[in-house]
Amino acid sequence: MELCVALDLPTTRSNLELATTLKDKNIWLKVGLRSFIRDGEKLIKEIKQINPKFKIFLDLKIYDIPNTMADAAESMANLGIDMFNVHASSGKLAMSKVMQRLSGVKDAPLVLAVTALTSFDEENFKNIYNESIEKKAIDFAKDAYKSGLNGVVCSAYESSLIKVNTDENFITLTPGIKVDVDRKDDQKRVASIEFANSEKSNIIVVGRPIYNSDDPLGVVEKIIQRIEI
Ligand code: C5P
Repeated sequence: MELCVALDLPTTRSNLELATTLKDKNIWLKVGLRSFIRDGEKLIKEIKQINPKFKIFLDLKIYDIPNTMADAAESMANLGIDMFNVHASSGKLAMSKVMQRLSGVKDAPLVLAVTALTSFDEENFKNIYNESIEKKAIDFAKDAYKSGLNGVVCSAYESSLIKVNTDENFITLTPGIKVDVDRKDDQKRVASIEFANSEKSNIIVVGRPIYNSDDPLGVVEKIIQRIEI
C-alpha cells in the first residue's frame, strides 16, 4: 500500500512548503480542484522541481460528454502527471473514449474512476443513485474495468469486494482514512490505515491529519511505518 498526501492547503506557498517538507518521501501528492484552479500547470511543474520522483495525482473528477472528456484527458496527460480521475457515472462510452485517446500518448497517466464519494451516507446516496453504496460502487467499478481504466476511487469498505468483482490488480485508491482514532472530520465512511491495508487498498489518501499537524513529516513517517507493518 502507498500513501497519497492531499495538497489541499489554502495557498500556493503552503502547498509547496508541504511538498518541500516531504521531499525525501516516496509518496503520491494529490492536486485537487482548489489548487489546480488557482495554480494550474505551474503548480505541477513546481512540485516536480522539488522532487521529480513525486508521483502526482490530479484529482479533478471529470464528468462531461465523451468527446470533451477525451480532450480533457489528453490535456491532462500533456501536463506530465502520473494519474487522474473521471466520474464512473459518466458512463462506459466516455471512459472508453478517454482510454482510446490515451492509447497514443507516451507514458500516459493511470486513470481511475470515482465510484461513490466517501462523504455520502446510505440515505443521501440512495436519493441520487437509487441503489446501495456497495452495489453501485461495484457496478461502477465493473464499468470502469470493462472500459479499460486502471482502477477506482472508493472507500476502504468496498476495496476488497471491487477486486473480487474485477481483478486483483485493479487499483483501489481510498480516501476517508482516519489517522487518529477519535477524529472524523466530515467523512462518513472513514477507515483506519490498518483496515484499508487489510481490504487491499493500493493507495490511501490523507490530507488534514497531515497538513493540520504541527509535525507533518512526523505524521507521514508514522503513517508509512503503519503501512509497512
Ligand atoms: O479528510 P482528508 O483531508 O484526509 O481528505 C483528503 C482528501 O480525500 C480530500 O482532498 C478529498 O478529495 C478526499 N475526501 C473524500 N471524501 C471525503 C473527504 C475527503 O474523498 N469525505
